[in-house]
Amino acid sequence: MLIAPATANTLSKMVNGNCDNLLIATYLSAKCPVYFAPAMDLDMYKHPSTVASFHTLKQFGDIIIPAEKGELASGLSGEGRMAEPENIVDFLEKDLESKLPLIGKKILITAGPTYEAIDPVRFIGNHSSGKMGFDIAERAAELGASVILISGPTHLNTKKAVINLIRVTSAQEMYDACHEYFEKVDVAICAAAVADYKPKFVAKQKIKKAAASLAIELEKTQDILASLGKIKQQQFLIGFALETENEIENAKLKIQKKNLDLIVLNSLMDEGAGFGKTTNKITFIDKDFVVEPMDLKLKELVAIDIMNKVISFYEK
Ligand code: CTP
Repeated sequence: MLIAPATANTLSKMVNGNCDNLLIATYLSAKCPVYFAPAMDLDMYKHPSTVASFHTLKQFGDIIIPAEKGELASGLSGEGRMAEPENIVDFLEKDLESKLPLIGKKILITAGPTYEAIDPVRFIGNHSSGKMGFDIAERAAELGASVILISGPTHLNTKKAVINLIRVTSAQEMYDACHEYFEKVDVAICAAAVADYKPKFVAKQKIKKAAASLAIELEKTQDILASLGKIKQQQFLIGFALETENEIENAKLKIQKKNLDLIVLNSLMDEGAGFGKTTNKITFIDKDFVVEPMDLKLKELVAIDIMNKVISFYEK
């Protein structure tokens, strides 16, 4: 809540709870941070009564946006002129940002599918939309983190300037991009549906339908998440697991095999979860094997749950 201009009269009413207008009724009911930008004549601004109001309001937890010097309504010039609106907005942005829980943290997120080329026109891919990874990136940015979002082919986009979106196509490109940034990040969240196999040989020309049948030899791609787990130092590493049977046991094995701090388990057995959906049903399992099933919810809300895990890691 921002009270601007905050007159000497309004400040006094705020201090005393003198609830005779809508503004003070709203102020007394506000549960959010309250900012006030005083505006009054220069002598009023210096009066002990006003100074005492500032003092008490600060004790209440309210935040003053100090008045500026300049021309006043009385025709006099001095301190007491309300801060310029753009300076108020600037103050609010800086103050709110500095209090965000992940300010100063760098987070790497992978999202979307990868495409593995067969020939110049065809590829092996999957149905991942990238939505889960993009939602996590948006939430991480809202919490103050600077985000490196490495995404496979998707139609999704982001408007947030603090998200550095790096578009890749293949598992190898995603691997290279992840390794370029991993050393400098605090958190890595691998939400991408990386292809596990790629064609061993990529045809230089489009394959003609000459033969009656066609076999494509596949070889394993590099496991990006496992490779990050191997070199991880201070990083909090989160992986995803998509399972169809023995979900919890398989996910626990993945935590150990890939050296993870937390795994987000998706079971395709759960209705409403998985590829191309707007909702997801996940279970968290941490490295001590504490299992925490969550309700079915929108992916935006799942992203909040995942980022809350990151916040609580730093609060420990
Ligand atoms: N992953 C990865 N690189 C790969 C394959 C998977 O980084 N080449 C990551 C995914 O981003 C996800 C996690 O590994 O965070 C789990 O992927 P999943 O397909 O469930 O498991 P796999 O390790 O591939 O094992 P399997 O397919 O045998 O279950």
